[in-house]
Amino acid sequence: MKIFLDTADITEIRRAADAGLIDGITTNPSLLAKVAGDREPREIFAEICEVVDGPISAEVIATDAAGMISEGRKLSGLHENIVVKLPLTEDGLRACRALSGEGIATNVTLCFSTSQALLAAKAGATFISPFVGRLDDVGHDGMEIIAEIRQVYDSYGFTTEILAASLRHPRHVLEAMLMGADAATLPSKVLYQLLKHPLTDRGLEQFLADWKGSGKEL
Ligand code: E4P
Repeated sequence: MKIFLDTADITEIRRAADAGLIDGITTNPSLLAKVAGDREPREIFAEICEVVDGPISAEVIATDAAGMISEGRKLSGLHENIVVKLPLTEDGLRACRALSGEGIATNVTLCFSTSQALLAAKAGATFISPFVGRLDDVGHDGMEIIAEIRQVYDSYGFTTEILAASLRHPRHVLEAMLMGADAATLPSKVLYQLLKHPLTDRGLEQFLADWKGSGKEL
C-alpha cells in the first residue's frame, strides 16, 4: 500500500521524504491556506515536487466544470507528477472525464459513499479519496466504504486506485491495508505513530546498556 503525506508543509514533507517514508503527497485548499503566507500556490507545488518524486495532489478551487478544467490544465502543467484533485460533484465528474481524456491524472475527493466512488471510476478517475474519519465523525463506520469500494472496483474491473483519506489514527491505517486500499494519506502525526513502538524503544535501550557493560567497541 502506498503512503502519502496529507500536508502542504515543506518541513514535514522533507523530513518524511528524506527518511524514505512516503510515496506521494495530498493537499487540499485548507492545508494550502495554512502554509501559503505571501506565496502563490504554484510556488508551493513546485517546491513539493522538487522534494517528492511521486503523485502530488493539487486541488482546484472553481466549482463549475469549465473553471475546474482550466485550473486542472494549469495545475497539471506545473509538473508531470501533479494529480488534479476534483470534488465529487456533477461538475467535478464532468471535469474528471474531460481531464482524464487528456491523459491528466485525477484524484476525486470528498467521497462519502460507494455509489459516488462508482461514478468517479466511470468518469476515469486515477484515484478516489473516501474520507473515513469524517464519516466516523457523523456516526458511520467510515472504513466500511473502503471494503465496499474494493469489492465493487474488483467486480467490475475498474483500475481507479482507492486512496483512503481522512485517517485519524494508526488503527485506521491498519484497517485500510486489510481492506485492500491501494494507498492511504496520513497527517504527519499518524505517520510517526505508525513508526513508534514503546517495545522498540525499550528493547534498544536494553541492547545499548548491555553492550556498554561489555566495555567493547564495534
Ligand atoms: C485528503 O485528501 C484530505 O486532504 C484529508 O485526508 C482530509 O482529512 P481530514 O478529514 O482530517 O481533514
